[in-house]
Amino acid sequence: MTGFNEPASTQTALLLLGRGSDAGSERGVDCPGELPAPSDPDLVERARAAKEALGGNVFVLGHHYQRDEVIQFADVTGDSFKLAQQAAARPDAEYIVFCGVHFMAESADILTGDHQRVVLPDMAAGCSMADMATASQVEQCWEDLQRVGVADVTVPVTYMNSTAAIKGFVGREGGIVCTSSNAERALRWAYDQGEKVLFLPDQHLGRNTMVREMGYSLDDCVLYNPHKPNGGLTDDELRNAKIILWKGHCSVHGRFTLACVEEMRRVDPEVNILVHPECTHEVVEAADYVGSTEYIIKALEAAEPGSSWAIGTELNLVRRLANRFPDKKISFLDKTVCYCSTMNRIDLPHLVWALEELVAGRVPNVITVDERTASYAREALDRMLALP
Ligand code: 13P
Ligand code: SF4
Repeated sequence: MTGFNEPASTQTALLLLGRGSDAGSERGVDCPGELPAPSDPDLVERARAAKEALGGNVFVLGHHYQRDEVIQFADVTGDSFKLAQQAAARPDAEYIVFCGVHFMAESADILTGDHQRVVLPDMAAGCSMADMATASQVEQCWEDLQRVGVADVTVPVTYMNSTAAIKGFVGREGGIVCTSSNAERALRWAYDQGEKVLFLPDQHLGRNTMVREMGYSLDDCVLYNPHKPNGGLTDDELRNAKIILWKGHCSVHGRFTLACVEEMRRVDPEVNILVHPECTHEVVEAADYVGSTEYIIKALEAAEPGSSWAIGTELNLVRRLANRFPDKKISFLDKTVCYCSTMNRIDLPHLVWALEELVAGRVPNVITVDERTASYAREALDRMLALP
Protein backbone atom coordinates (compact mmCIF):
# COMPACT_ATOMS: atom_id res chain seq x y z
CA MET A 1 0.00 0.00 0.00
CA THR A 2 1.20 3.53 -0.77
CA GLY A 3 -0.30 6.86 0.18
CA PHE A 4 -0.99 7.59 -3.52
CA ASN A 5 -4.36 9.29 -3.99
CA GLU A 6 -5.98 7.98 -7.14
CA PRO A 7 -7.22 10.93 -9.20
CA ALA A 8 -10.97 11.03 -9.79
CA SER A 9 -12.36 9.45 -12.93
CA THR A 10 -14.20 11.65 -15.40
CA GLN A 11 -16.55 10.73 -18.21
CA THR A 12 -14.12 12.05 -20.79
CA ALA A 13 -10.96 10.61 -19.29
CA LEU A 14 -10.83 7.52 -21.45
CA LEU A 15 -12.00 9.02 -24.71
CA LEU A 16 -9.66 8.39 -27.62
CA LEU A 17 -7.35 11.29 -28.24
CA GLY A 18 -7.06 12.93 -31.61
CA ARG A 19 -9.64 13.31 -34.32
CA GLY A 20 -11.69 10.21 -33.64
CA SER A 21 -13.93 10.95 -36.61
CA ASP A 22 -11.01 10.89 -39.01
CA ALA A 23 -10.57 7.25 -39.97
CA GLY A 24 -7.28 8.12 -41.66
CA SER A 25 -5.67 9.05 -38.36
CA GLU A 26 -6.71 5.82 -36.65
CA ARG A 27 -4.49 3.65 -38.84
CA GLY A 28 -6.91 0.76 -38.60
CA VAL A 29 -8.27 -0.64 -35.37
CA ASP A 30 -8.76 -4.23 -36.47
CA CYS A 31 -6.80 -6.97 -34.87
CA PRO A 32 -6.66 -9.75 -37.46
CA GLY A 33 -7.13 -13.12 -35.76
CA GLU A 34 -8.27 -14.08 -32.29
CA LEU A 35 -7.65 -11.49 -29.57
CA PRO A 36 -7.58 -13.17 -26.13
CA ALA A 37 -10.27 -12.03 -23.69
CA PRO A 38 -9.00 -9.55 -21.06
CA SER A 39 -10.55 -11.84 -18.42
CA ASP A 40 -8.45 -14.84 -19.49
CA PRO A 41 -6.66 -15.85 -16.24
CA ASP A 42 -3.79 -17.38 -18.25
CA LEU A 43 -2.69 -14.20 -20.01
CA VAL A 44 0.44 -13.69 -17.92
CA GLU A 45 1.47 -17.30 -18.37
CA ARG A 46 0.72 -17.17 -22.12
CA ALA A 47 2.87 -14.06 -22.55
CA ARG A 48 5.70 -15.64 -20.57
CA ALA A 49 5.50 -18.90 -22.57
CA ALA A 50 5.43 -17.09 -25.92
CA LYS A 51 8.41 -14.92 -25.01
CA GLU A 52 10.33 -17.97 -23.86
CA ALA A 53 9.53 -19.82 -27.11
CA LEU A 54 10.78 -16.86 -29.16
CA GLY A 55 13.96 -16.49 -27.08
CA GLY A 56 16.54 -14.09 -28.52
CA ASN A 57 14.52 -13.69 -31.75
CA VAL A 58 12.27 -11.17 -30.05
CA PHE A 59 13.10 -7.99 -28.19
CA VAL A 60 10.30 -6.15 -26.41
CA LEU A 61 10.63 -2.38 -25.93
CA GLY A 62 8.30 -0.62 -23.49
CA HIS A 63 7.71 3.11 -23.14
CA HIS A 64 7.30 4.36 -19.56
CA TYR A 65 3.62 5.23 -20.19
CA GLN A 66 2.69 1.62 -20.85
CA ARG A 67 0.45 -0.25 -18.41
CA ASP A 68 2.11 -2.33 -15.67
CA GLU A 69 0.60 -5.50 -17.18
CA VAL A 70 2.59 -4.80 -20.36
CA ILE A 71 5.73 -3.23 -18.91
CA GLN A 72 6.47 -6.41 -16.94
CA PHE A 73 7.29 -8.12 -20.26
CA ALA A 74 9.55 -5.36 -21.63
CA ASP A 75 13.21 -6.28 -22.06
CA VAL A 76 14.02 -2.59 -21.88
CA THR A 77 11.92 0.36 -20.72
CA GLY A 78 12.74 3.94 -21.58
CA ASP A 79 11.86 7.37 -22.86
CA SER A 80 11.66 7.89 -26.62
CA PHE A 81 15.38 8.60 -26.90
CA LYS A 82 16.50 5.51 -25.00
CA LEU A 83 14.07 3.30 -26.92
CA ALA A 84 15.37 4.62 -30.26
CA GLN A 85 18.93 3.92 -29.15
CA GLN A 86 17.98 0.44 -27.95
CA ALA A 87 16.16 -0.41 -31.17
CA ALA A 88 19.28 0.57 -33.14
CA ALA A 89 21.49 -1.50 -30.83
CA ARG A 90 19.70 -4.88 -31.26
CA PRO A 91 20.65 -6.17 -34.72
CA ASP A 92 20.34 -9.80 -33.55
CA ALA A 93 16.63 -9.62 -32.73
CA GLU A 94 14.53 -10.65 -35.72
CA TYR A 95 11.41 -9.08 -34.21
CA ILE A 96 11.18 -5.86 -32.22
CA VAL A 97 7.81 -5.74 -30.45
CA PHE A 98 7.24 -2.07 -29.68
CA CYS A 99 4.97 -1.37 -26.72
CA GLY A 100 4.56 2.34 -27.31
CA VAL A 101 2.96 4.42 -30.05
CA HIS A 102 3.11 4.46 -33.84
CA PHE A 103 5.79 7.17 -34.32
CA MET A 104 8.12 5.29 -31.97
CA ALA A 105 7.66 2.05 -33.90
CA GLU A 106 8.27 3.89 -37.19
CA SER A 107 11.52 5.30 -35.82
CA ALA A 108 12.53 1.80 -34.71
CA ASP A 109 11.85 0.49 -38.23
CA ILE A 110 14.02 3.26 -39.70
CA LEU A 111 16.87 2.51 -37.28
CA THR A 112 16.82 -1.30 -37.56
CA GLY A 113 18.18 -3.50 -40.34
CA ASP A 114 16.29 -4.86 -43.35
CA HIS A 115 16.31 -8.33 -41.77
CA GLN A 116 14.36 -7.07 -38.76
CA ARG A 117 10.63 -6.41 -38.38
CA VAL A 118 9.00 -4.01 -35.99
CA VAL A 119 5.62 -5.05 -34.59
CA LEU A 120 3.12 -2.68 -32.94
CA PRO A 121 0.65 -4.84 -30.95
CA ASP A 122 -2.27 -2.46 -31.64
CA MET A 123 -2.21 -0.39 -34.83
CA ALA A 124 -4.54 2.18 -33.25
CA ALA A 125 -1.82 3.21 -30.80
CA GLY A 126 -1.16 6.57 -32.45
CA CYS A 127 -0.27 9.97 -31.02
CA SER A 128 -2.63 12.91 -31.43
CA MET A 129 0.29 15.35 -31.37
CA ALA A 130 2.06 13.56 -34.24
CA ASP A 131 -1.18 13.80 -36.25
CA MET A 132 -1.14 17.60 -35.87
CA ALA A 133 1.54 18.04 -38.55
CA THR A 134 0.90 16.43 -41.93
CA ALA A 135 3.49 16.31 -44.69
CA SER A 136 1.45 18.54 -47.01
CA GLN A 137 0.96 21.17 -44.28
CA VAL A 138 4.68 21.22 -43.54
CA GLU A 139 5.57 21.51 -47.26
CA GLN A 140 3.15 24.46 -47.45
CA CYS A 141 4.87 26.10 -44.48
CA TRP A 142 8.26 25.60 -46.15
CA GLU A 143 6.91 27.27 -49.31
CA ASP A 144 5.81 30.22 -47.15
CA LEU A 145 9.34 30.46 -45.75
CA GLN A 146 10.81 30.25 -49.27
CA ARG A 147 8.48 32.99 -50.50
CA VAL A 148 9.51 35.40 -47.73
CA GLY A 149 13.16 34.52 -48.38
CA VAL A 150 14.17 32.75 -45.15
CA ALA A 151 14.03 29.02 -45.97
CA ASP A 152 17.77 29.03 -46.79
CA VAL A 153 18.69 30.15 -43.28
CA THR A 154 16.05 28.05 -41.48
CA VAL A 155 16.86 24.63 -40.03
CA PRO A 156 13.88 22.34 -39.38
CA VAL A 157 13.87 20.47 -36.08
CA THR A 158 11.21 17.89 -35.37
CA TYR A 159 10.27 16.33 -32.07
CA MET A 160 10.40 12.55 -32.18
CA ASN A 161 6.60 12.68 -31.79
CA SER A 162 6.03 13.12 -35.52
CA THR A 163 5.35 10.85 -38.45
CA ALA A 164 8.13 9.32 -40.53
CA ALA A 165 7.09 11.65 -43.38
CA ILE A 166 7.85 14.70 -41.22
CA LYS A 167 11.18 13.24 -40.12
CA GLY A 168 11.89 12.60 -43.82
CA PHE A 169 11.14 16.24 -44.68
CA VAL A 170 13.44 17.41 -41.88
CA GLY A 171 16.26 15.09 -43.00
CA ARG A 172 15.87 16.24 -46.61
CA GLU A 173 16.18 19.89 -45.58
CA GLY A 174 19.29 19.33 -43.43
CA GLY A 175 17.54 19.29 -40.05
CA ILE A 176 17.48 17.09 -36.98
CA VAL A 177 15.13 15.05 -34.78
CA CYS A 178 15.03 15.73 -31.04
CA THR A 179 13.36 14.21 -28.01
CA SER A 180 12.43 15.75 -24.70
CA SER A 181 15.80 14.65 -23.31
CA ASN A 182 18.00 16.41 -25.91
CA ALA A 183 15.92 19.29 -27.32
CA GLU A 184 18.36 21.93 -26.08
CA ARG A 185 21.38 20.20 -27.64
CA ALA A 186 19.47 19.68 -30.89
CA LEU A 187 18.48 23.35 -31.02
CA ARG A 188 22.05 24.48 -30.34
CA TRP A 189 23.18 22.18 -33.16
CA ALA A 190 20.53 23.74 -35.42
CA TYR A 191 21.66 27.30 -34.62
CA ASP A 192 25.20 26.28 -35.57
CA GLN A 193 23.86 25.34 -39.03
CA GLY A 194 21.54 28.31 -39.65
CA GLU A 195 19.94 31.42 -38.23
CA LYS A 196 16.38 30.32 -37.60
CA VAL A 197 14.52 27.14 -36.61
CA LEU A 198 11.19 25.70 -37.71
CA PHE A 199 10.17 23.53 -34.73
CA LEU A 200 7.64 20.72 -35.32
CA PRO A 201 5.08 19.75 -34.03
CA ASP A 202 5.07 20.52 -30.27
CA GLN A 203 4.92 24.26 -29.64
CA HIS A 204 5.40 23.71 -25.90
CA LEU A 205 8.63 21.71 -26.06
CA GLY A 206 10.02 24.26 -28.53
CA ARG A 207 9.00 27.30 -26.48
CA ASN A 208 10.00 25.79 -23.14
CA THR A 209 13.44 24.83 -24.42
CA MET A 210 14.09 28.19 -26.07
CA VAL A 211 12.97 30.28 -23.10
CA ARG A 212 13.67 28.14 -20.04
CA GLU A 213 16.82 26.33 -21.16
CA MET A 214 18.39 28.70 -23.68
CA GLY A 215 17.50 32.17 -22.41
CA TYR A 216 15.57 33.45 -25.43
CA SER A 217 12.46 35.57 -24.89
CA LEU A 218 8.87 34.80 -25.80
CA ASP A 219 9.17 37.56 -28.43
CA ASP A 220 11.73 35.42 -30.28
CA CYS A 221 9.00 32.80 -30.89
CA VAL A 222 6.07 32.92 -33.31
CA LEU A 223 3.31 30.33 -33.66
CA TYR A 224 2.56 28.94 -37.13
CA ASN A 225 -1.05 27.78 -37.46
CA PRO A 226 -1.24 25.30 -40.38
CA HIS A 227 -4.97 25.98 -40.76
CA LYS A 228 -4.43 29.65 -41.66
CA PRO A 229 -2.85 31.25 -44.75
CA ASN A 230 0.83 32.04 -44.08
CA GLY A 231 0.36 30.29 -40.73
CA GLY A 232 -1.66 33.28 -39.51
CA LEU A 233 1.53 35.38 -39.51
CA THR A 234 2.71 38.42 -41.45
CA ASP A 235 5.71 38.09 -43.74
CA ASP A 236 7.74 40.21 -41.33
CA GLU A 237 6.78 38.01 -38.38
CA LEU A 238 8.06 34.99 -40.33
CA ARG A 239 11.23 36.88 -41.29
CA ASN A 240 12.03 38.24 -37.82
CA ALA A 241 11.30 35.21 -35.59
CA LYS A 242 14.23 33.29 -34.15
CA ILE A 243 12.02 30.20 -33.95
CA ILE A 244 8.81 29.34 -35.76
CA LEU A 245 6.81 27.01 -33.54
CA TRP A 246 4.26 24.67 -35.09
CA LYS A 247 0.81 24.89 -33.50
CA GLY A 248 0.72 21.35 -32.09
CA HIS A 249 0.43 20.10 -28.54
CA CYS A 250 -0.15 17.04 -26.38
CA SER A 251 -3.72 16.76 -25.12
CA VAL A 252 -2.60 14.74 -22.09
CA HIS A 253 -0.01 17.23 -20.83
CA GLY A 254 -2.35 20.11 -21.74
CA ARG A 255 -4.51 19.00 -18.82
CA PHE A 256 -2.03 20.30 -16.23
CA THR A 257 -2.70 23.96 -15.41
CA LEU A 258 -1.17 26.72 -13.32
CA ALA A 259 -4.15 26.29 -10.97
CA CYS A 260 -3.07 22.62 -10.38
CA VAL A 261 0.43 23.83 -9.44
CA GLU A 262 -0.89 26.56 -7.13
CA GLU A 263 -3.29 24.17 -5.41
CA MET A 264 -0.50 21.64 -4.78
CA ARG A 265 1.70 24.36 -3.29
CA ARG A 266 -1.18 25.63 -1.13
CA VAL A 267 -1.85 22.15 0.27
CA ASP A 268 1.85 21.34 0.76
CA PRO A 269 4.34 24.24 0.68
CA GLU A 270 7.21 21.71 0.68
CA VAL A 271 6.08 19.97 -2.51
CA ASN A 272 8.45 19.65 -5.49
CA ILE A 273 6.65 20.16 -8.78
CA LEU A 274 8.13 17.94 -11.49
CA VAL A 275 6.68 18.12 -15.01
CA HIS A 276 7.28 16.96 -18.56
CA PRO A 277 8.31 19.72 -21.06
CA GLU A 278 5.18 19.02 -23.14
CA CYS A 279 3.28 20.98 -20.46
CA THR A 280 2.35 24.60 -21.22
CA HIS A 281 4.91 27.33 -20.70
CA GLU A 282 3.17 28.76 -17.64
CA VAL A 283 3.12 25.33 -15.96
CA VAL A 284 6.78 24.71 -16.80
CA GLU A 285 7.73 28.18 -15.50
CA ALA A 286 5.92 27.47 -12.25
CA ALA A 287 7.52 24.01 -11.82
CA ASP A 288 10.68 23.18 -9.88
CA TYR A 289 11.98 20.49 -12.23
CA VAL A 290 11.30 19.76 -15.90
CA GLY A 291 12.37 16.79 -17.98
CA SER A 292 11.66 13.67 -20.00
CA THR A 293 10.07 10.54 -18.55
CA GLU A 294 13.53 9.06 -17.95
CA TYR A 295 14.55 12.30 -16.16
CA ILE A 296 11.40 12.12 -14.02
CA ILE A 297 12.26 8.57 -12.94
CA LYS A 298 15.86 9.49 -12.13
CA ALA A 299 14.71 12.52 -10.11
CA LEU A 300 12.51 10.26 -7.98
CA GLU A 301 15.29 7.68 -7.59
CA ALA A 302 17.54 10.42 -6.23
CA ALA A 303 14.89 12.06 -4.02
CA GLU A 304 15.18 12.03 -0.22
CA PRO A 305 12.89 9.67 1.69
CA GLY A 306 9.95 11.66 3.06
CA SER A 307 10.19 14.31 0.31
CA SER A 308 7.01 15.38 -1.43
CA TRP A 309 6.47 15.39 -5.20
CA ALA A 310 3.62 16.34 -7.53
CA ILE A 311 4.22 15.00 -11.02
CA GLY A 312 2.77 16.34 -14.26
CA THR A 313 2.94 13.50 -16.71
CA GLU A 314 0.95 10.42 -17.72
CA LEU A 315 -0.80 8.50 -14.95
CA ASN A 316 0.54 4.96 -15.55
CA LEU A 317 4.06 6.26 -14.94
CA VAL A 318 3.15 8.38 -11.91
CA ARG A 319 1.26 5.51 -10.26
CA ARG A 320 4.19 3.14 -10.92
CA LEU A 321 6.57 5.60 -9.27
CA ALA A 322 4.25 5.97 -6.27
CA ASN A 323 4.16 2.18 -5.86
CA ARG A 324 7.92 1.92 -6.28
CA PHE A 325 8.77 4.63 -3.73
CA PRO A 326 6.32 4.24 -0.81
CA ASP A 327 8.80 6.20 1.37
CA LYS A 328 8.23 9.35 -0.75
CA LYS A 329 5.00 11.31 -1.00
CA ILE A 330 4.09 11.18 -4.68
CA SER A 331 0.97 12.79 -6.11
CA PHE A 332 -0.48 13.26 -9.54
CA LEU A 333 -0.52 16.95 -10.51
CA ASP A 334 -4.09 16.88 -11.89
CA LYS A 335 -7.13 15.97 -9.80
CA THR A 336 -8.66 13.80 -12.47
CA VAL A 337 -7.51 10.69 -14.34
CA CYS A 338 -5.17 11.51 -17.20
CA TYR A 339 -3.97 8.54 -19.22
CA CYS A 340 -2.57 8.69 -22.71
CA SER A 341 -5.43 6.67 -24.11
CA THR A 342 -3.54 5.70 -27.27
CA MET A 343 -0.57 4.41 -25.27
CA ASN A 344 -3.13 2.52 -23.18
CA ARG A 345 -4.46 0.68 -26.23
CA ILE A 346 -1.56 -1.72 -25.90
CA ASP A 347 -2.84 -4.03 -23.23
CA LEU A 348 -1.92 -7.56 -22.23
CA PRO A 349 -4.37 -9.25 -24.67
CA HIS A 350 -2.79 -7.38 -27.60
CA LEU A 351 0.72 -8.22 -26.43
CA VAL A 352 -0.16 -11.91 -25.98
CA TRP A 353 -1.80 -11.94 -29.40
CA ALA A 354 1.24 -10.38 -31.09
CA LEU A 355 3.71 -12.73 -29.37
CA GLU A 356 1.64 -15.86 -30.07
CA GLU A 357 1.30 -14.87 -33.73
CA LEU A 358 5.10 -14.68 -33.93
CA VAL A 359 5.39 -18.11 -32.30
CA ALA A 360 2.97 -19.43 -34.94
CA GLY A 361 5.25 -18.08 -37.70
CA ARG A 362 3.05 -15.13 -38.66
CA VAL A 363 4.28 -11.55 -38.28
CA PRO A 364 1.36 -9.28 -37.30
CA ASN A 365 1.05 -5.49 -37.43
CA VAL A 366 4.38 -4.84 -39.11
CA ILE A 367 5.38 -1.16 -39.19
CA THR A 368 7.18 -0.34 -42.44
CA VAL A 369 8.45 3.00 -43.64
CA ASP A 370 9.11 3.26 -47.39
CA GLU A 371 12.81 3.41 -48.26
CA ARG A 372 12.88 6.94 -49.70
CA THR A 373 11.21 8.44 -46.62
CA ALA A 374 13.28 6.21 -44.35
CA SER A 375 16.61 7.25 -45.84
CA TYR A 376 15.95 10.98 -45.29
CA ALA A 377 14.43 10.33 -41.86
CA ARG A 378 17.47 8.22 -40.92
CA GLU A 379 19.72 11.21 -41.65
CA ALA A 380 17.73 13.35 -39.21
CA LEU A 381 17.64 10.58 -36.59
CA ASP A 382 21.35 9.81 -36.98
CA ARG A 383 22.17 13.49 -36.41
CA MET A 384 20.26 13.26 -33.14
CA LEU A 385 21.96 10.02 -32.09
CA ALA A 386 25.34 11.65 -32.82
CA LEU A 387 24.70 14.74 -30.65
CA PRO A 388 27.44 15.21 -28.03
P1 13P B 1 9.58 10.91 -23.45
O1 13P B 1 10.55 10.91 -24.57
O2 13P B 1 9.93 11.89 -22.36
O3 13P B 1 9.38 9.53 -22.89
O4 13P B 1 8.19 11.44 -23.97
C1 13P B 1 7.46 10.78 -24.93
C2 13P B 1 6.07 11.22 -24.96
O5 13P B 1 5.33 10.91 -25.84
C3 13P B 1 5.64 12.09 -23.89
O6 13P B 1 4.31 12.42 -24.11
FE1 SF4 C 1 1.38 11.64 -27.86
FE2 SF4 C 1 0.77 13.02 -25.63
FE3 SF4 C 1 0.38 10.37 -25.72
FE4 SF4 C 1 2.86 11.38 -25.62
S1 SF4 C 1 1.28 11.52 -24.04
S2 SF4 C 1 2.14 9.72 -26.97
S3 SF4 C 1 2.60 13.24 -26.90
S4 SF4 C 1 -0.69 11.93 -26.99
